[in-house]
Amino acid sequence: MNKIIERDRAYTWHPYTQHGVEPDPIAIDRAKNASLFDVEGREILDLISSWWTCLHGHSHCELNEALAAQAERLPHIMFAGFTHAPAVELAEALVKAVPQGQPNERLARVFYSDNGSTAVEVALKLAYQYWRNRGEEGRNIFVSFEGGYHGDTLGAMSVGTGSGFFNLFTDLMCAVKTVPFAETWDGDEEAERREDAALTALKTVLQAERGRIAALIIEPMMQGAGGFRICRPEFLRGVCDAARQEDILIIFDEVATGFGRTGPLFASEHAGVTPDLMCLSKGLTGGYLPLAATVASERIYSAFLDESFAKAFAHGHSFTANPLASAVAVRSLALFEKEQTFDRIKRIEQQHRAILPELKKRREITRSRVLGTILACNLADGEGGYKSEASLFLKDWYLAHGLNIRPLGPVIYLMPPYCITGQELRRAYEGLFAGLDALASQGL
Ligand SMILES: Cc1ncc(COP(=O)(O)O)c(C=O)c1O
Repeated sequence: MNKIIERDRAYTWHPYTQHGVEPDPIAIDRAKNASLFDVEGREILDLISSWWTCLHGHSHCELNEALAAQAERLPHIMFAGFTHAPAVELAEALVKAVPQGQPNERLARVFYSDNGSTAVEVALKLAYQYWRNRGEEGRNIFVSFEGGYHGDTLGAMSVGTGSGFFNLFTDLMCAVKTVPFAETWDGDEEAERREDAALTALKTVLQAERGRIAALIIEPMMQGAGGFRICRPEFLRGVCDAARQEDILIIFDEVATGFGRTGPLFASEHAGVTPDLMCLSKGLTGGYLPLAATVASERIYSAFLDESFAKAFAHGHSFTANPLASAVAVRSLALFEKEQTFDRIKRIEQQHRAILPELKKRREITRSRVLGTILACNLADGEGGYKSEASLFLKDWYLAHGLNIRPLGPVIYLMPPYCITGQELRRAYEGLFAGLDALASQGL
């Protein structure tokens, strides 16, 4: 066993890991483009972009350069009472980049924090305080979706109970009503019927709780951790129409779907809808550094303006708007144009779609689907949980064969960095199928 692993075993505690039974982690020494290299020099193709964060590729020379230049100038400064060019430039770039709706729904203000969960906490707190600041006291319920996941902090867990990860913590959670998400897949003929049923259920809740709901939160177009569940733009539009009808705030959690993952820069663009609050993180810095942004509408921001501090948003983190992370994020956004990233995204989507027929031929696979750079499918008889025997077998098999593919329970997915080559993707598909063959030969 190498020394890093030995020391890791002695001192660290890993996320989402049962240290009682799971194998040692792999010690990664370096990474370049779509590849990770372990301390023994073995290459692993990163087909899930390091928990969906890496956009343009690992150790990108431009991002390295932006980081080094900012480190020379200003690594950190608190963001209350101070500001700095990278945070301002990034806020400007984000406001220009996010989809915009009616004048009073314009997403116009960026509140920074440092991970996806905090971006969601901020959105929930802003939504709640928005109504309080306007003198509406009773709005303390959030509406979320079955299969929705929004992070691991308390508020984010509350709106993510539909993901099934947090049953242990229900006593600690805030009030949430969970409604069905109209999932669909390639060749699905029941999508409209499922949408009608889900929208009826949503409207029933919105009417029953009229005046008590602060906001609705949804991962637009695709639920990530809940199982890469995709919906049609029609469903997202229906959800937004229903929420607008009842005058509740809409929060889009684009932590996973943002920055091109589903095709356009933001998934909400598929449906041409805009929220009141938008949560961003993961790909925001191209996968380099922890940074998050909650983009709020002008309507929300103005409800916090007052002569007294009582209406201000009393929330902040030590590393809010960290200059290193902000500078890298600015450069990462600029790379979309410089590297013609949307062409790369289209090429990945085309390659995924070309493999769909082969995937659909497999008896052990069901519900194949593609959205932008994401290819996903379910194990046909895989009702197992997050760490089912089959999913653990596949994860280990793929790693042993140089592929970072990490099934989420019965869901197998690829979400590669945009720099991945056509040849690397072909290697990924071949490996994916070979892993399924190995699973079948185990009788799992
Ligand atoms: C949609 C969504 N929201 C929020 C989060 C939480 O982000 P973080 O892990 O950075 O706290 C995630 C993480 O996977 C996510 O997929």
